[in-house]
Amino acid sequence: MEHSIYEFPAIFRRVHKERPGDIEAEADFLKRVWARHLERPVKRVLDVASGNSPHGQILARDGLHVVGVDRSPTMIAAGRKESRGLGGIRFYRREIARFRIRERPFDAAVFMSETFPVMTTNNEILSHLESVGRLLRRGGLYCIDVDRQDGIRVTRSRRAWRERTIRVGDAQVEVGAFNRPMPWFSGIHSTFELKCQIRFPHRTVITRDLVPTRYTLPCTLDLAARASQRFQLIACYADLSFSMPLEKCERWLAVLRRV
Ligand SMILES: C[S@@+](CC[C@H](N)C(=O)[O-])C[C@H]1O[C@@H](n2cnc3c(N)ncnc32)[C@H](O)[C@@H]1O
Repeated sequence: MEHSIYEFPAIFRRVHKERPGDIEAEADFLKRVWARHLERPVKRVLDVASGNSPHGQILARDGLHVVGVDRSPTMIAAGRKESRGLGGIRFYRREIARFRIRERPFDAAVFMSETFPVMTTNNEILSHLESVGRLLRRGGLYCIDVDRQDGIRVTRSRRAWRERTIRVGDAQVEVGAFNRPMPWFSGIHSTFELKCQIRFPHRTVITRDLVPTRYTLPCTLDLAARASQRFQLIACYADLSFSMPLEKCERWLAVLRRV
């Protein structure tokens, strides 16, 4: 039976090449963005596709009230366990494309770890912006972290992209990344296939995740924000900096304001 890498939160972080200090730097930059674009302090934050909400855990330590939304029960369970004693982050198991939760309005929402492009249809993107917009107070900010995607090659057949082996605790993980073709008219740049063979001391597990990736640019996000009639794109920042030009960045942060 094949599994998902999200069933193994500690391994997923290493597979995604997260380095020590990355999440802290991102949380710090979010706070700087809020200070720059909001007149009042952020007290309530919605973490979209939160996983175990590593950013939320840092913010909760600062006394902010954080709510996470994610579809993975394992990631949510890890988040609940890790955030005990932080005043408790509340998690909801939901699909991000369309969701409702019974919560008071948030001052800010964040969508980190370059996951936004998994919403591949116009309907999904618009119902997502509608779902988040409904939960944000007017003037509130929605920060979305997006990869620079021009390195992804369009392929006509399934192609190996990267292979490596890493060690996480007592597990050896063979990581294979593949690009899968998509029809040219789909709007989906490629489907990213992540296959991991995880050798624990007494068992081996195979995970396979298919991540369709819609090419997401400042101009397309601007269009989606306008079409939703809920948001306006007010800034794009490159590589956690207010001064780095977009041309040179590896990833960028879109800042949408709830109108
Ligand atoms: C790369 S992880 C990022 C988690 C967290 N934001 C972080 O920075 O560590 C992506 C998360 O998105 C969630 N996810 C992916 N597609 C989703 C969907 N359609 N609905 C809800 N959650 C989704 C996965 O379960 C996973 O926890």
